[in-house]
Amino acid sequence: MKIVVIGGTGLIGSKLVNKLREHGHEAVAASPNSGVNTLTGEGLAEALKGASVVVDVSNSPSWEDDAVLKFFETSTRNLLTNEAAAGVGHHVALSVVGTQRLAESGYFRAKIAQEKLIKESSVPYTIVQATQFFEFLKGLADISMVGDKVHVPHALFQPMAADDVATAVGRIAVAPPVNGTVEIGGPEQFRIDELVRRRLATLKDPREVIADPNARYSGAKLSDRTLVPGDNARLGETRFEVWLTQPAAQLPSAPQPKAVAVENKEKESQRKAS
Ligand SMILES: NC(=O)c1ccc[n+]([C@@H]2O[C@H](COP(=O)([O-])OP(=O)(O)OC[C@H]3O[C@@H](n4cnc5c(N)ncnc54)[C@H](OP(=O)(O)O)[C@@H]3O)[C@@H](O)[C@H]2O)c1
Repeated sequence: MKIVVIGGTGLIGSKLVNKLREHGHEAVAASPNSGVNTLTGEGLAEALKGASVVVDVSNSPSWEDDAVLKFFETSTRNLLTNEAAAGVGHHVALSVVGTQRLAESGYFRAKIAQEKLIKESSVPYTIVQATQFFEFLKGLADISMVGDKVHVPHALFQPMAADDVATAVGRIAVAPPVNGTVEIGGPEQFRIDELVRRRLATLKDPREVIADPNARYSGAKLSDRTLVPGDNARLGETRFEVWLTQPAAQLPSAPQPKAVAVENKEKESQRKAS
């Protein structure tokens, strides 16, 4: 089956492409680097020819309110129009657990807009809402700085390994569309401040982490369970302590500067090749 992975060079996308290929599918990694740009539409019609499924695991290069809204609205419109023309039978998009409860955040207003366009389109779909990735914990600290300290809410969350996200999205991509939303999450719940503190300690990052009742998550106020998935969520296997022993935990976490990301990908391919 031909499956086009939009954002196929990213954290989740690169893992997903590998997993789909291991299962014998023709997985195409589509991104600006491979000449496919969903924002401008460049290369899209050509890439979608003969595709049965499109999985959108792209992310906006800028998280500034207007830029991120423009990215998800324009990209999703371009994708769905081209998918309808190419007869694609399943659009899968990766979103975030609790997106509908996070409208105070510019980033999440953009994800809400993305989900709305998908639900209104004629293309059969599955929206996969994932919890925060373990790989994102350092990035969460980086976007939560007040002075030289990390200020995060004390709320609960149920984060998961990026590898488990890719496994779940891959299974959903090859199954029939549910025309609805599937939640996926990690096997354990934590307090955000506690886990960010533990993650920074393993990285020997000396920043102090404060549980701050006024701290926001990506601009949105959280209640205790805003980020926690419902009872029907499909849970990944990898526990945080186990993930810490894996190669994924040794790399600088996403989001990270492009140069570092490219360097890490190169190191990873060199390791695989040797
Ligand atoms: N971080 C979290 O904890 C979390 C939790 C749940 C869900 N999510 C969702 O997961 C998704 C993927 O996140 P990620 O961390 O894997 O992303 P990522 O590593 O930042 O990768 C983003 C991908 O999008 C591609 N891209 C950027 N602009 C594009 C364009 N104009 N056209 C086509 N592709 C474009 C990039 O291509 P290049 O490499 O060529 O630039 C890259 O392949 C996001 O939608 C996010 O909302 C994240």
